[in-house]
Amino acid sequence: MVVKAEGAGGAPRRVTIFGSTGSVGTQTVDLVARDPERFPVEALTANRNVALLAEQARQLRPKLAVVADPAAYADLKEALAGTGVEAAAGPQAVAEAAERPSDWVMAAIVGAAGLEPTLAAVRRGACVAFANKEVLVCAGALMMEEVRRHGANLLPVDSEHSAIYQVFDFDRLESVQRLILTASGGPFRTRDRAFMAAATREQAVAHPTWDMGAKISIDSATMMNKGLEIIEAHFLFGVPEEKIDVLVHPQSVVHSLVEYVDGSVLAQLGTPDMRTPIAYALGWPARISTPAERLDLVKAATLTFEAPDPERFPALRLARAALQSGGGAPTILSAANEVAVQAFLDRRIGFLDIERIVEGVLGTLPHRPLRDLGAVRDTDAEARRVAADRVAALAR
Ligand SMILES: NC(=O)c1ccc[n+]([C@@H]2O[C@H](COP(=O)([O-])OP(=O)(O)OC[C@H]3O[C@@H](n4cnc5c(N)ncnc54)[C@H](OP(=O)(O)O)[C@@H]3O)[C@@H](O)[C@H]2O)c1
Repeated sequence: MVVKAEGAGGAPRRVTIFGSTGSVGTQTVDLVARDPERFPVEALTANRNVALLAEQARQLRPKLAVVADPAAYADLKEALAGTGVEAAAGPQAVAEAAERPSDWVMAAIVGAAGLEPTLAAVRRGACVAFANKEVLVCAGALMMEEVRRHGANLLPVDSEHSAIYQVFDFDRLESVQRLILTASGGPFRTRDRAFMAAATREQAVAHPTWDMGAKISIDSATMMNKGLEIIEAHFLFGVPEEKIDVLVHPQSVVHSLVEYVDGSVLAQLGTPDMRTPIAYALGWPARISTPAERLDLVKAATLTFEAPDPERFPALRLARAALQSGGGAPTILSAANEVAVQAFLDRRIGFLDIERIVEGVLGTLPHRPLRDLGAVRDTDAEARRVAADRVAALAR
């Protein structure tokens, strides 16, 4: 479980942004660029989007810019010529960037690829703003153990977990009755299974309230995103699976709630703009201003809530089963899901094949305990192999 620690208040904070070219990354850059004196930049990283990374580097003048894809190195070096910004490439260089002396690290890589850099930042006791939920899903127990051992501080960035963090009573855990994660319901909230079976990539990424990267948009459409978030909340707040509920709330205004034993329910509200939870982590424990649209409850007028439908969205059941099973099951779930989502984005399989593949891989592989990071990597790799075989068998 995370511990609410003391922070540095309004002092300058040197930052590193992993995944700076992504949806969360660019919104973090947007906030940091508004106050460069307070937020000097140590390093920026991307996978292979050299053009945007170089543009950000020219604007923010970090000491280092890294691409994970070694093939993009020459282009990055050329794009940064004359800027004084050092260029580096490869997954190892991304992880090494996390070891550099920044006070605050944004973990906004997508998928398990973020494991090594997040772990490296945690191991030097950094303050880690944590968006990259797949890391906690694939290695939750080990990651939280490292957080404790090294006195690191994990500040959740997912809007739901940021909301819970803001209203969670860390000093009186016994007073917490349950966590309630809200979900927009995604683009297929009102659609039947026949519609989903024929859904295209364009329909699935068209999220009704949030503008996000491709992978999390598909996860929202299957509701696997909420399943991953149940697992993330379990590790972050130390609350058992059966005390974490999901509530569909299409307006995405109430970002999540905590119910206490006396019947009180505390929530955090705001317009759906990721810059609000990112700013909460960036300024923490101080609040910093953002250009996010203000919440006007009169304009919003009606907020609605409904129970999730487990028949149309079986991903929620799969994620809960993986968490209950424990050991490597969440690792398998997340790895198989990454492979299946990518195959859907590549138009190789249908939308409902995603859940079929995840369920199949989860049912095929043993759920061994994860004693160390090597076991996490092996389990992740094995699940990816089996999932890729299933994609090949289903591919059109
Ligand atoms: N977007 C949101 O609103 C939101 C909200 C809550 C939580 N999250 C979580 O935040 C994380 C990032 O989401 P996103 O929507 O920002 O994703 P995104 O837009 O796809 O961006 C992903 C970032 O990671 C980089 N990247 C991709 N593969 C990589 C690899 N193998 N090694 C190193 N870097 C790699 C990308 O670089 P390139 O640009 O070069 O490909 C990009 O900078 C996810 O875990 C997501 O679930 C996102």
